[in-house]
Amino acid sequence: MSDAWKRLAAEKAVEDVRPGMKLGIGTGSTAEHFVRALGARVREGLDVTGVPTSERTHQLASEEGIRLSTLDEMPELDLTVDGADEIDPEMRLIKGGGGALLREKIVAAASKQMIVIADESKLVDVLGRFPLPIEVVPFGLGATTLAVRDCLSGLGLSGQLTIRGGDEHPFVTDGGHFILDAELGRIPDADALADKLVAIPGVVEHGLFIGLAAKAYVAGADGVRTIVASR
Ligand code: 5RP
Repeated sequence: MSDAWKRLAAEKAVEDVRPGMKLGIGTGSTAEHFVRALGARVREGLDVTGVPTSERTHQLASEEGIRLSTLDEMPELDLTVDGADEIDPEMRLIKGGGGALLREKIVAAASKQMIVIADESKLVDVLGRFPLPIEVVPFGLGATTLAVRDCLSGLGLSGQLTIRGGDEHPFVTDGGHFILDAELGRIPDADALADKLVAIPGVVEHGLFIGLAAKAYVAGADGVRTIVASR
């Protein structure tokens, strides 16, 4: 059912796309529904240009016949549509389950508006049930992991930190980095954690998206709900 809901949310977001828009295009299974629905509109004559947030999305969007560009050629975008791993009532997000958080955040920050598309399982009261992805450079991994642990305990947080894919064959992001997944359970002060994590040398980005999304289309048994940020 969850996949059908993801598709419903994605199709709703396509209705917000206007001719001539410069679009950020997210990554993940929900975003893939968006790419397919957008591709169908493009084949009917809708003229848009997209900036994909991952190599995976680039591939699918090309196959769908969507004209693509880069943030170097189009540094300001009208709209980004992307999925999320968690959404809290203030529209703070955890993203990066698909490993594309860095490009996703750069693209969202370059956009006038970000719309999140998701099934209702992604709604939470407090972020943190989903392991927080933290993108780190491979050099100095041990030291960076220690600094992340210190940062977490300084905020009263604890939990397992694991290298995605394992030490033997770590997952490598499109930017050539690794991902540390932090199983925190609850993140009562996501704003403070976000600020502290980016200040650690070796941390490239983290999956807390704060102040980036203003609207979400969330699909469930009752159809698609529009949710707007409460702050
Ligand atoms: C990828 C992401 C995705 O948006 C997030 O993981 C949600 O994925 P899905 O739509 O497959 O549930 O942040 O980095």
